[in-house]
Amino acid sequence: MSVKPYEKQEDSKKEQVRMMFNRIAPRYDLLNRVLSFGIDRIWRRRLVRLVRKKAAATVLDVATGTGDLALALAATRRKPLTVYGLDISSGMLELARKKVNKKGLQDLIVLKEGDSEALPFDDNYFDAVTVAFGVRNFGDLAKGLAEMRRVLKPGASLYVLEFSKPSVFPVKQLYGFYFSHILPWWGGVISKDKAAYSYLPASVMDFPEGAAFEAELRRAGLNPTRSRRQTFGIATIYISEKG
Ligand SMILES: C[S@@+](CC[C@H](N)C(=O)[O-])C[C@H]1O[C@@H](n2cnc3c(N)ncnc32)[C@H](O)[C@@H]1O
Repeated sequence: MSVKPYEKQEDSKKEQVRMMFNRIAPRYDLLNRVLSFGIDRIWRRRLVRLVRKKAAATVLDVATGTGDLALALAATRRKPLTVYGLDISSGMLELARKKVNKKGLQDLIVLKEGDSEALPFDDNYFDAVTVAFGVRNFGDLAKGLAEMRRVLKPGASLYVLEFSKPSVFPVKQLYGFYFSHILPWWGGVISKDKAAYSYLPASVMDFPEGAAFEAELRRAGLNPTRSRRQTFGIATIYISEKG
């Protein structure tokens, strides 16, 4: 069974994840910038460039959170006609909505509360589906991947950005220490939710990465076409296609 944010509580991982993101939502963006030294923005931009290589009119950003990836997708020159941003946490979506309104992008970005394991969209609807730092948090990964495949048009791609583990010396050792000791402490202080920032490294350690994640994609009926490790393997972008 995969790790949960509040191990001692009985409710499901999905419920706990929703509760945790509702709690940390007001400080989520600040924490991202501080804890990743801003690198998360570079990774999202790379993902957007990959999506833009194929003309995609209708894009779904699953686990959109505070909307950074949806906003980045909507800010490109060859922008999609519509970007849907879906998330299970109303707290995160509220912040996304403020950012979208501030940029006047309400006509381009549609925000929706919903669950990745039961997507409220028709089959074969999207030209691309993206998900950044979301899949690791799904209650049922296989169900989430199958749902994202279902809503993709045949031949369209799923783009997943997720944490992985660097393997080269000394990055592996330095990052391991930062991620397991400094980040949980610092994250706990800023977010005032210590469990949330202990869950972060624990969920990354627990998550299938590289070939193991590609095997999950195949099991869900997707064909992995490219996996690109980012910044010494701290994160990976996985691209897979619906046949
Ligand atoms: C680490 S945040 C990532 C947010 C955003 N994609 C980003 O790059 O900053 C993970 C998000 O996944 C959402 N999430 C987790 N499980 C979900 C599910 N089953 N369905 C939809 N969203 C989910 C959480 O509410 C949270 O907003």
